[in-house]
Amino acid sequence: MTTAAAAVYDPQLPGGAPAVAASARQVTKSYGAGETRVTALDAVDVDIQRGRFTAIMGPSGSGKSTLMHCLAGLDTVTEGRIWIGETEITGLKDKQLTRLRRDKIGFIFQAFNLLPTLNALENITLPMDIAGRKPDQAWLDRVVETVGLSDRLRHRPTQLSGGQQQRVAVARALAARPEIIFGDEPTGNLDSRSGAEVLSFLRRSVDELGQTIVMVTHDPVAAGYADRVLFLADGVMVDEMHAPTADSVLERMRRFDGKRTS
Ligand SMILES: Nc1ncnc2c1ncn2[C@@H]1O[C@H](COP(=O)(O)OP(=O)(O)OP(=O)(O)O)[C@@H](O)[C@H]1O
Ligand SMILES: [Mg+2]
Repeated sequence: MTTAAAAVYDPQLPGGAPAVAASARQVTKSYGAGETRVTALDAVDVDIQRGRFTAIMGPSGSGKSTLMHCLAGLDTVTEGRIWIGETEITGLKDKQLTRLRRDKIGFIFQAFNLLPTLNALENITLPMDIAGRKPDQAWLDRVVETVGLSDRLRHRPTQLSGGQQQRVAVARALAARPEIIFGDEPTGNLDSRSGAEVLSFLRRSVDELGQTIVMVTHDPVAAGYADRVLFLADGVMVDEMHAPTADSVLERMRRFDGKRTS
């Protein structure tokens, strides 16, 4: 941890754990150059609270995925600094960043990123297998049961529906109990019932296990499961809402005048 990093942290939680699981300071991300240059993020400051469920919303193209990818160390920033816990990741060498992602971060991608040659169970335990960690069997059973995959564990991704594949991806992120989980529309491909099950499970993993979750979503109902919603527009953090409900989120989205929200 650098001395400069210390300045960005909020007071500590009781017990001494840092209250912030991830932070961005003045993060700008540009793509391309000259006339085709796009500023996807423009001087964004954000703190993601530990043990909380944070949703990121905003119109299509507003920079939600870009912000999440930068926070998770999947993409580099053009300017600014990012911390995961107490570790500044901007400036880390590839090898260190890979190890940090492997040990501390879980991902739920929109395109599930499952390995086609592995069955559901093997996909779920893959990150731990790679890290040489043994899964906690009781926890693994609970995760698998909650996402409703107990009878599909030996199936390969091509033998699963889209929703089932997404549930494998959710189980994979939760199974290793990472410090922080990032999900880019993790319930975007699910019917409302499977989506609600997954969201309740994410909610419980925050409430009962202190998991930290950051979720990009277009869905006010999904955002209603979060503790806090951050609103992006044109690469700028424009608003936030605590204790959101589906209705209050919908109301806020309507104020994105004339802009598409999905
Ligand atoms: N690799 C890239 N090269 C050039 N421009 C990009 C690239 N990735 C994203 N962008 C641009 O950056 C902006 C933000 O994109 P981003 O994917 O973060 O949006 P988003 O809020 O996640 O949108 P959506 O809701 O549609 O997923 C967009 O204008 C997009 O066109
Ligand atoms: Mg996106």
